[in-house]
Amino acid sequence: MAEKTFPLYVFDAYGTLFDVHSAVARHRGLVGEQAERLSEIWRVKQLEYTWTRSLMGAYRDFDALTAEALDFAAARCGGLSAEACEKLLDAYRTLDAFPDAAPALRRLRERGAKAVILSNGAPATLARAVAAAGLRDLLDESLSADSVIRFKTAAEVYALVGARYGTTPEQVSFQSSNRWDIAGAAQFGFNTVWINRAGAPDEYRDLPPARVISSLASL
Ligand code: LAC
Repeated sequence: MAEKTFPLYVFDAYGTLFDVHSAVARHRGLVGEQAERLSEIWRVKQLEYTWTRSLMGAYRDFDALTAEALDFAAARCGGLSAEACEKLLDAYRTLDAFPDAAPALRRLRERGAKAVILSNGAPATLARAVAAAGLRDLLDESLSADSVIRFKTAAEVYALVGARYGTTPEQVSFQSSNRWDIAGAAQFGFNTVWINRAGAPDEYRDLPPARVISSLASL
């Protein structure tokens, strides 16, 4: 049976279109043996800061939280020079896109669907990342949580889509590799597609994805 199609496809950015571990992978030599551990801690702390700050009402933008999370991860993994941290942050601004991202976006565009990003990323940083990854011509635009000064999974962030496009949640297909983001989007009412790239176990079982695929190639 053919998969249902939608007029609007909304994508999470980090981890879904962009490989968040490509920054450390690019500078593995600088980081040394703990490269993978550092990259994992960096991502986990970055996300933790988005949730705690949203709950506290003490917003700082995603760039600031990414830098703070790297400081913590570096300290946890034995320390890194300021120069090495700067190189990693610079690489984070121009992450690699996953190889399945551009072909999937191209197929949607050819079908006449709109494709947009909805991300916690700061607007200028998102614009730079999209351009660096060669995705600019394949996306209609990027919507940022920054405009509501709260992060996903706050409903205000998912509501940015309807405010911009006049869509109801049922008209939107929302793609994310982050299971917590799929839970937030499902709670909001979007049709959700979990891109379970890593074969992670399921969670948030009361907020299941409508579809689970292992790569954007199956979208
Ligand atoms: C995003 C991250 C947090 O919103 O995955 O793009």
